[in-house]
Amino acid sequence: MTHGSSGVAVLDLEPAASDFLTEAIEGLSSTPPTLPSKFFYDERGSDLFQQICELPEYYITRTESEILRKHGAEMAASIGEKAELVGFGTGAGIKTRMLLQELENPIAYVPVDISKQRLIESAEALQTAMPALEVLPVCADYMQPLRLPTPSRKPDHVAVYFPGSTIGNLEPHLAENFLARVCRLCGNSGGLIIGVDLQKPVELLEAAYNDRVGVTAAFNLNILERANRELGADFNLSCWQHRAIYNSGAGRIEMHLIANGHQHVHLGGRTFRFAHGEMIVTEYSYKHTQEGFAALAKRAGFKLSRVWTDPEQLFAVFHFVVAD
Ligand code: AVJ
Repeated sequence: MTHGSSGVAVLDLEPAASDFLTEAIEGLSSTPPTLPSKFFYDERGSDLFQQICELPEYYITRTESEILRKHGAEMAASIGEKAELVGFGTGAGIKTRMLLQELENPIAYVPVDISKQRLIESAEALQTAMPALEVLPVCADYMQPLRLPTPSRKPDHVAVYFPGSTIGNLEPHLAENFLARVCRLCGNSGGLIIGVDLQKPVELLEAAYNDRVGVTAAFNLNILERANRELGADFNLSCWQHRAIYNSGAGRIEMHLIANGHQHVHLGGRTFRFAHGEMIVTEYSYKHTQEGFAALAKRAGFKLSRVWTDPEQLFAVFHFVVAD
């Protein structure tokens, strides 16, 4: 346990440091070459992502917040009283706070984050804002199996909150495995509140990932800059171009970096060659239908309780309960 200035104690499950070098070499050696999207989020990448969330084309963040503002009280009622709320990667925690404020007699809030510093900062801010709430931060990779701390009062049930459509980064079979683990973590009478981006016309989707001012391009290219900086790679930044396309068959946005001319890249003692027009895949962002996602969650052991969307049905927030 480590204690911060406002007294929140962090349960540190010591998440394995993911190895950028190993995963970059493995990714660039595969067909098609890839760089995993989790490596977007260094300091500059997190900053750029924050800027993406405020872009006019990027409807995701404001739509989810809007749904929460309108229906937060219903969500809280659906979750029920005396919950232990577990937040997965909830960042600054604005949405979480909106939900917590509506909950009746919450027993504890357990934010889970892989970054210890971000975790402590947001947990302390929340503890200060809601002094009566027991805040029990856990430093862990929520994509891996994890255990929960024991609140001082006994909760009636556990509710996992997973906003932001981060689930969209997982290919459907992996999303299903992940939800099956969440289901076991919640246990009997547990539930899940999850934000999911919905399928919509290709023009809207592609605009959201190809913004006019180029923030998403900078966000995508930053992964190469990060590889240069941290791994001593020699990507020539002016020779790579951002592109995001919607693969309607697979139901996903694909973020690519396209080689503009023949490239030789050295990384970790290896040479990777790219012909003009060849690409590196940096991210998949799956878009679901309401029915499709409910079916996926059902296969993972959940039963649909309720779903809320915006008037244009751009985004959905689901409440699932563990099926018995
Ligand atoms: C954080 C995974 C939800 O897929 O929309 C934003 C990341 N990538 N713009 C998304 C992202 C490009 C984002 N998620």
